[in-house]
Amino acid sequence: MTTVVIGGTAGIGLEFARSRAAAGKDVVVAGRDVAKANAVASEIGARAVIVDLAEPKSIAGALADIRDVDELVMLAIDRDSNSAKDYDIDRAIGLTTIKLVSYIETVHTLYPRMAPDASIVLFGGRAKDKPYPGSTTVSTINGGIIGMVNTLAIELAPVRVNAIHPGIVGDSWYWAEKPAAVLDAYRSRTPTGVLATMADVVDAIDFLLRNKSMNGQQIGIDGGWMLT
Ligand SMILES: NC(=O)c1ccc[n+]([C@@H]2O[C@H](COP(=O)([O-])OP(=O)(O)OC[C@H]3O[C@@H](n4cnc5c(N)ncnc54)[C@H](OP(=O)(O)O)[C@@H]3O)[C@@H](O)[C@H]2O)c1
Repeated sequence: MTTVVIGGTAGIGLEFARSRAAAGKDVVVAGRDVAKANAVASEIGARAVIVDLAEPKSIAGALADIRDVDELVMLAIDRDSNSAKDYDIDRAIGLTTIKLVSYIETVHTLYPRMAPDASIVLFGGRAKDKPYPGSTTVSTINGGIIGMVNTLAIELAPVRVNAIHPGIVGDSWYWAEKPAAVLDAYRSRTPTGVLATMADVVDAIDFLLRNKSMNGQQIGIDGGWMLT
């Protein structure tokens, strides 16, 4: 059986793919960049598939060779920085298409090749609850992931569907490159005193895929940040 990681060529997706491949699983990592996907796949012992979620009508063809899926994890994101006051429509359409149309088109494509006990994990994020400047599209699509989980868990049953909504993942490239003062400010408002790590999130993906009673759930990973 195969683990498919859409957005598995970088960040959290790559770390999850690495862990599954190291455990001997057949793993497919998917991303847009041919050179990056091939390099990553050969480094961790996975197969590479090239797909651009900004082009939903190309997904079926791009994923045509994938078979026998028991784990599907979708993390792909091409972040925009957007606001209602200064709205970039093209960027907004791009990101909204990736998460809200193409995640479902990917499920539509792979579902006929999924085992009945297969499991799907989708990625949103805490920006839906705690917006930050520029997060208008990100906050909106993260909210959309909630509805997506609910409808897919019913429609695809007994296939299980859950979502992870990380807070600030401090060692992911997007946040690791921010000024120390920015991260310190988030850390000071986190009850555990530490930001979530990619390893913490990978552990949660594994839990949701493995635990046969986890279904229709939205899991926040943020050290209790929502309490402050
Ligand atoms: N990092 C955080 O702190 C954080 C916080 C909250 C939520 N999240 C969520 O967690 C998930 C993973 O975040 P991350 O920081 O690990 O992401 P990342 O490092 O930026 O990786 C994004 C992945 O998506 C792929 N991708 C981007 N655009 C694509 C497209 N059009 N078609 C196909 N693949 C595409 C990238 O590969 P290519 O560039 O090769 O296409 C890459 O593999 C995201 O959904 C994000 O919203 C992360």
